[in-house]
Amino acid sequence: MDGVTVVNHPLVQHKLTLLRDKTSSTKVFRELFNEIGTLLCYEVTRDLPLEMIEVETPLAKMKSPILSGKKLVLAPVGRAGNGFLDGMRNLLPSARVAHVGLYRDPRTLVAVEYFFKAPDDMADRLTLVLHPMLATGNSAVAAIDRLKEHAAKNVRIVCLLVTRRAVDKVRAHHPDVHIWTAAIDDDIDERGYIVPGIGDVGDRMYGTR
Ligand code: URA
Repeated sequence: MDGVTVVNHPLVQHKLTLLRDKTSSTKVFRELFNEIGTLLCYEVTRDLPLEMIEVETPLAKMKSPILSGKKLVLAPVGRAGNGFLDGMRNLLPSARVAHVGLYRDPRTLVAVEYFFKAPDDMADRLTLVLHPMLATGNSAVAAIDRLKEHAAKNVRIVCLLVTRRAVDKVRAHHPDVHIWTAAIDDDIDERGYIVPGIGDVGDRMYGTR
């Protein structure tokens, strides 16, 4: 699908299957989510620019690559987005974090903002929007709108599951934003849940239902 990279690494696919299993405990669910966050982070940062610097090993001086320029902003969206955060920060300990507090109105499925806080130098950084469940695309579009208002320029979105309709919506509003995901699922049900999906991420991760 145009604008989408499906990460079909065996470890990601194995862990996704365990996440789908409704009998996985809250503890296991949270751990798997973190681990997949780390693995997706590895894939989404695969093309980051490098520059050569001189280092001195215990044996010799050499030129060696290091990440170039200002680093990244991780922007988790809502409760589900926070599930990827620790796993990604394991690989990107210096990344800034922009909190995008949005929830889905359960009746209209429209995104409602309750909190927003982002670093001032977004324009100089690559922003990774952490949005595990791209169901309708409404909250992803709202989050990216908000981040771009705050000067974000170079934006990527990291998902666990997407639907085609959500991808179409995000790509229609933000054609510059590429999407990484572990799988493309069929569609959403009448409550806005991805089917077959993994259920309500916030509830399963935080044990609220
Ligand atoms: N949010 C969730 O937690 N699950 C879905 O299936 C869709 C949105």
